[in-house]
Amino acid sequence: MKKYITDFTIIEKHIFNENYFSLTLQHPQHLPEIEAGQFVEVYIPDNKEVLLRRPISIHDVDRDANTIKLLIQKVGKGTSTLASMHEGDILNLVYPLGHGFSQQGNNPLLVGGGAGIAPLLYLSKCLKAKGITPTILLGGRTEKLIPSREEFKPFGTLALATEDGSIGEKGLVTQHPLFQGSYDHIYTCGPTPMMKAVARYAMAKGIPCEVSLENLMACGIGACLCCVVDSDQGHKCVCKEGPVFNANQLTTWINN
Ligand SMILES: Cc1cc2nc3c(=O)[nH]c(=O)nc-3n(C[C@H](O)[C@H](O)[C@H](O)COP(=O)(O)OP(=O)(O)OC[C@H]3O[C@@H](n4cnc5c(N)ncnc54)[C@H](O)[C@@H]3O)c2cc1C
Ligand code: FES
Repeated sequence: MKKYITDFTIIEKHIFNENYFSLTLQHPQHLPEIEAGQFVEVYIPDNKEVLLRRPISIHDVDRDANTIKLLIQKVGKGTSTLASMHEGDILNLVYPLGHGFSQQGNNPLLVGGGAGIAPLLYLSKCLKAKGITPTILLGGRTEKLIPSREEFKPFGTLALATEDGSIGEKGLVTQHPLFQGSYDHIYTCGPTPMMKAVARYAMAKGIPCEVSLENLMACGIGACLCCVVDSDQGHKCVCKEGPVFNANQLTTWINN
């Protein structure tokens, strides 16, 4: 799939809380094909301490408006610089990067945690457009760590779990009653222990499962090898051969 380096204009900034914000970015022309689960590498402007682009999942795509939405957690220098940007500012993206989700299954479960909920919104939108209504299970330590949850409602059956019980079921997403429903495909993105638990469950039940890894990255195009995961077929670059992998390719990673 062809990659592009393009300036986008920030047309909307939404601040959920001190941890999370979203940026809606408008492309000057028609957007190319974008798969749910692909990501962008964002150039961080005006910050000489941040030389490398930062990988961020594509949270949503609006082809009529030529926009891409990013959901971002403020964790360090790069994401804090992005949080200080305004509507009208320009952001340079390399995109669309990596391989996305397969969008298989007629009764899929989507499990997301923290910033890992980001790629699941566009996935649920694409599934809904194919006539499939996914079950979407989102989790976090507390309510404010499940941002943008309202945006999922039109695209599936939404359920929430928080460790402190501030919204949804109290406990981990894997303890939510809907987790043990009958599904024919599972897609997950979020903290590594959560994804491993989801993948172990899926593999034990024989349910095909896709995990989206968020390893540290530098180049984003398979050149620096800093993002490799130890797959069952040897080292794989998460940026180029992922970030979405079939769980059965990662049995060593999942069971460690
Ligand atoms: C394919 C992919 C998709 C991603 N999608 C999103 C997304 O949609 N929204 C979002 O908020 N974040 C996402 N991330 C994580 C995001 O890239 C990092 O949080 C970001 O690069 C941190 O940059 P920084 O300069 O703010 O932090 P730094 O100053 O570089 O680091 C601050 C802290 O964040 C940690 N950190 C840095 N990168 C990561 C990472 N990849 N995962 C976990 N911790 C990290 C560092 O170890 C350090 O503790 C994604 C990562 C990948 C690889
Ligand atoms: S980030 Fe450079 S090879 Fe993946």
